[in-house]
Amino acid sequence: MPQLLITGGAGFIGSHSCLSFLEAGHNLVILDNYSNGSKEALKRVAQLVGLHDSKRLRLIRGDIRNKNDLDKAFTASDQPIEAVIHFAGLKAVSESFLDPLKYWDVNLSGSRSLLEAMLSYECKTIVFSSSATIYGCPQKIPIDETALVQPVNPYGHTKAAVERLLSDLAESQNGWRIASLRYFNPVGAHSSGVIGEDPNGLPNNLFPVVSQVAVGRIEELKVFGCDWSTPDGSAIRDFIHVVDLAEGHLAALEVLLREPPQMLTLNLGTGRGHSVLEVLNAFQKVSKRNIPYLIERRRPGDVACTVADSTMAEQRLGWKTKLNLFDMCKDAWNWQKMNPLGYQEK
Ligand code: WQD
Repeated sequence: MPQLLITGGAGFIGSHSCLSFLEAGHNLVILDNYSNGSKEALKRVAQLVGLHDSKRLRLIRGDIRNKNDLDKAFTASDQPIEAVIHFAGLKAVSESFLDPLKYWDVNLSGSRSLLEAMLSYECKTIVFSSSATIYGCPQKIPIDETALVQPVNPYGHTKAAVERLLSDLAESQNGWRIASLRYFNPVGAHSSGVIGEDPNGLPNNLFPVVSQVAVGRIEELKVFGCDWSTPDGSAIRDFIHVVDLAEGHLAALEVLLREPPQMLTLNLGTGRGHSVLEVLNAFQKVSKRNIPYLIERRRPGDVACTVADSTMAEQRLGWKTKLNLFDMCKDAWNWQKMNPLGYQEK
């Protein structure tokens, strides 16, 4: 099976995807600086797979912006790297307003350095972690891939810029196999509760905030805006289970390896929207915990509603989400109650 390089493999989506790739028989080299990921997550992935041969999962601590670190990653295995799954990047919308320079450096310059290294090691197959955030305020719901790319925050602009770089590369040189996967809202955890979402510091995203309120780490949920033009006034998102998302990466890689060079740009979502208050109620039901909340003003950079049209991914990858909001809340809560402090040492 092809040797893969996974950048950012110690993160939330990265670690769940590493599990899927290992279960499918791939051997992995992980390059991660652990800025928003945990070595412990990868140790647990190895336990879940029952890995005894460390040759199948090699960890390189390093940064995608550092050429020496990239060289170490591309030469860590005696097998050549046949494909790169590129998760490494910064992804907090609110933080990107505060420090755009860091977001452009890590997300764009880091991706450029990675692509240069890929060329020098004759590897031209990449699955890129893009985001539905690049659509900004959608004209039409559900959103398909022909929708305007019009980000409304620096994070979204960096993701759109990397997509532009990838499509310029695909057009300029033959042989590139590229899949840019536009995630909607990844949430949940592996059903074992052994791995899950463990953001560094105070979480920005809804699901980790709700689950940390439920477990008592955070006092209450602040609902950012209840004056949106939606049925209950709170914003709507297309939450996708992280295990479904991981399977989408595996399906995309298999199509790239099987078909002639091309660039795929695909939405990965469920096609179903749920509001913030619906998530709150579902989580209370699943956890049997009361989740106190306060209605606050809207958060800069937010939009009322984003829901995916993922029919293109279903057709091109033969992939479809299987898990629903109840599964997402159940698995997120199972992880949180088994790991109240996340991966931190007890
Ligand atoms: C969802 C809704 C908030 C926290 C995220 C990531 C982005 C991308 C897509 C990968 C919004 C509301 C949130 C809270 C709240 N992921 N909310 N109180 O902004 O849609 O985007 O997923 O590429 O990286 O930022 O997700 O979970 O932050 O917010 O009311 O404490 O929940 O206002 O309406 P978002 P989110």
